[in-house]
Amino acid sequence: MNKFVIFVSSALLVLFRIASAKVILYPYLMPGIHSGLDKESVSIFWLTDEDDIDAKTEFRTDDSKTSTLASISKKNVQIDGKSYYLFQALLDNLGFDENYYYTVTTRYGIIRQQTFRTRTKSNSFKFVVWGCSGEDTRPQIQIAKQIESLNANCIIHLGDFSYPKIGSGDANGGKLEDVIKRGIKPIDGEVESDNRSVLLSKCLTYLVYGNKEVNDGRGFNQGLNSLATFWLTNHPVNGPLVPKNYPNKLSQSDYTIFQNLVGRDKDGDLFERKTNYSFDVGNIHFTVIDGNVWQNPDDSNLRSWIRQDITNSRATWKIVVMHQPPFSPFISLAKDAKSIFSTSTFDSLIEDEGRSRRYVPLFEECGVDIVFTAHVHAYERVQPIKGVEYISSGAGGAHLHMNLITDQKGRVFSLMAEAALRGMRSLIGSNYNRYSYTIVNVIDRVIELEQYDSSGVLIDSHRIEKK
Ligand SMILES: [Fe+2]
Repeated sequence: MNKFVIFVSSALLVLFRIASAKVILYPYLMPGIHSGLDKESVSIFWLTDEDDIDAKTEFRTDDSKTSTLASISKKNVQIDGKSYYLFQALLDNLGFDENYYYTVTTRYGIIRQQTFRTRTKSNSFKFVVWGCSGEDTRPQIQIAKQIESLNANCIIHLGDFSYPKIGSGDANGGKLEDVIKRGIKPIDGEVESDNRSVLLSKCLTYLVYGNKEVNDGRGFNQGLNSLATFWLTNHPVNGPLVPKNYPNKLSQSDYTIFQNLVGRDKDGDLFERKTNYSFDVGNIHFTVIDGNVWQNPDDSNLRSWIRQDITNSRATWKIVVMHQPPFSPFISLAKDAKSIFSTSTFDSLIEDEGRSRRYVPLFEECGVDIVFTAHVHAYERVQPIKGVEYISSGAGGAHLHMNLITDQKGRVFSLMAEAALRGMRSLIGSNYNRYSYTIVNVIDRVIELEQYDSSGVLIDSHRIEKK
């Protein structure tokens, strides 16, 4: 009888544990720390509300029968009275351009089995660019599902990965629950389904830090909760230590937790250097620049890092990725609207464009081929300026910038109607009423860009040839 009671209680306990254990974020891939093409590693992250889950990550090449066990580290964070456990598995010493199969197992069974491809060294490959996605919308998921099926070598997300709850205002941008609900979960579902993509578990995504990630720098003023993107991501950290103009009002204990969550290396805290970085894929050198308000584009250390990072690279193509565009027809129009309608609606966009434009002489001097940006929720491609192509791909799922605007006198106007009246002559192939993303086909010294909308319809194509 006693044995029966013990058996029933144990069974109930196991059931209770299964019922109570929660995987908050299912395993997703993040690039490794190696910026050059000498070594390759990949990290897998997942977030739970339970500490002791006997987690195990195994990986092998597609055609191998022997698996390797990844080393796993774990960090605990308390946010809003809840305890979270962030697991990180390190898949090291990987081959290039190779398919790997991996499984993440816990005491409750397999929580992910998936295949991904490592970075290529080839001069011909495909990558995808998209941005401003994270509002948990249908187009965001449609686009992610299309990207999933492309067999692209890597993805560049141009920032604004997660948005605050509609109506809650910018103050909550980047909050942990927003990053989870609107940023990661829609494109990293537990399993593939009609309303979820599993993109992040299949394709390596390099993230550019947009204003929503850092909450326009105010994240440091609003506590640990508003800086989640910093500790839920991984990528090379080879940028400079430059002063950041953010109001750091984190309490000392939160600051210590934040430092620990983001991590540190021999040169100090990673978060200080995380938002400017560079990496190589195939014959392309990518330089990620933090275009946010907290970074001074005229800082001399920053400028010399950008100059050296780009000019020291021997890659065929030099591509810059940043969130805020230095040239945007939409913002030009906003400037007109500002004077015509005395509206301050676009003041921050106008200011952002001006700040990004201060990097332009550097791009021209260093021989940058393409600058990819987002921030304006539209696809915009302008005529090349002094040999540099400027392409904005910010229609990745968040509300499109075609809204009606009320000016200070209460007059309602449509910026898009204004655009139509003016002919938008400087703009090529734009579709302000469509969600879209960019496929970049690299064929040695030729790059072919294709812009597809969320239904898979080609809306623009463009060829760039390296002389
Ligand atoms: Fe933005």
